[in-house]
Amino acid sequence: MTQVEQISRADAERLDGRDELAAFRTRFVVDDDTIYLDGNSLGRLPRETPEVVDAVVRAGWGQGLIGSWHEWIDWSAALGDRLASAVLGASAGEVVLSDSTSVNLYKLAAAALGDADPSRRTIVVDAEDFPTNRYIMQGLARAHGMTIRAIGSDLDEGISLADLEAAVNDEVALVVLSLVSYRCGALLDMARVNDIARAAGSRVVWDLSHAVGAVPVELGSAGTELAVGCTYKYLNAGPGAPAFLYVRDDVQASLRQPIWGWFGQRDQFGMGADYDPVGTVGRFLVSTPPVLSMAPLGPALMLIEQAGIDELRRKGTGLTEFLVALVRQRLEPHGFRLASPADAQRRGTHVALEHSEAWRICQALTAAGVICDFRQPRRIRLAPVPLYTRFIDVWDAVDRLCHVMTTQRYERFSASRSRVT
Ligand SMILES: Cc1ncc(COP(=O)(O)O)c(C=O)c1O
Repeated sequence: MTQVEQISRADAERLDGRDELAAFRTRFVVDDDTIYLDGNSLGRLPRETPEVVDAVVRAGWGQGLIGSWHEWIDWSAALGDRLASAVLGASAGEVVLSDSTSVNLYKLAAAALGDADPSRRTIVVDAEDFPTNRYIMQGLARAHGMTIRAIGSDLDEGISLADLEAAVNDEVALVVLSLVSYRCGALLDMARVNDIARAAGSRVVWDLSHAVGAVPVELGSAGTELAVGCTYKYLNAGPGAPAFLYVRDDVQASLRQPIWGWFGQRDQFGMGADYDPVGTVGRFLVSTPPVLSMAPLGPALMLIEQAGIDELRRKGTGLTEFLVALVRQRLEPHGFRLASPADAQRRGTHVALEHSEAWRICQALTAAGVICDFRQPRRIRLAPVPLYTRFIDVWDAVDRLCHVMTTQRYERFSASRSRVT
């Protein structure tokens, strides 16, 4: 029998030594030895962000007062164009920052349903998709007298294209899917899904929240018409930062969103009697943007533009492969099971591990200085984010997790769950 060599901390150090993105870590606020593996929920704070926000507050608001709106009013389109080019594979004029992911999903899905052939009465969702996506579609189905067809998907592998193909037929008006699964990180083939839907005459709205900034997304060449996503995960724009929405250029003028706010109006300050929306992506805007929450996206996006999404993906793949190799060697003996696709090309930048004591282990690991999170059922998610996670962080995190297991430290923690997990 051949002896498998143990992965050592020196291996991690060697990988860090070759890491071309290593310097980006210094551009984030990292001032203790906490290992942060939860950037798929809330990205870290870039060093430059407080200064930028401070300037918006003091100079923009404090001194510029109402006059600053001449600049602020264009931010959502300008930042949308930067997102389109840096991480979405879309064109200028196809993306805007607006509202939250949930609200944008509602707007785009309702617009698609409003434009659908009335004989199509079914909406297809992934039964395991992030809850807000399922709930919003349930609400829309109720309002439109339509039916939800929820496709069962594997908790570790995500939805199967064969199941999708079987479910999408000429009864289906709309399909709603996440490009990267929030639970297991499975990455779908966007172009294939779009082809399946197009062949059946259905539309797709994509949720890119766990993909954007982590994996290259090519909305244009994949034939995507509609997408939404958040900016506070891999884009590092901060808690509650506004989300984005994408509407392909050629369908913008024909789709009508359900919230007829004045920010979509053709002559916004004409204060006219009736709603008459612009024919561009701006018609999907509703209301006054949260300027202070939007400001952090500028400096955060600059880091991603400088690193380049292909480099980020290359390092992200390296980090999760390293993590998975350590899981096999050191964590499986403690009862952990990989609950994500084993093939790095089929997953995003987070990895899920299943264990019967996942919640207590998650708390013990956090107490040991490794921030991760828990998701039902019995899963811990670990996200090594390429802009600020080192290979030694991955090695140390697994080492601390082994220590939690060998000392049975997790037994000191409560089995009842906190409000936020
Ligand atoms: C995949 C996915 N979609 C949608 C959302 C909801 O975003 P929001 O609460 O900003 O609407 C989240 C939140 O984490 C998410 O992970």
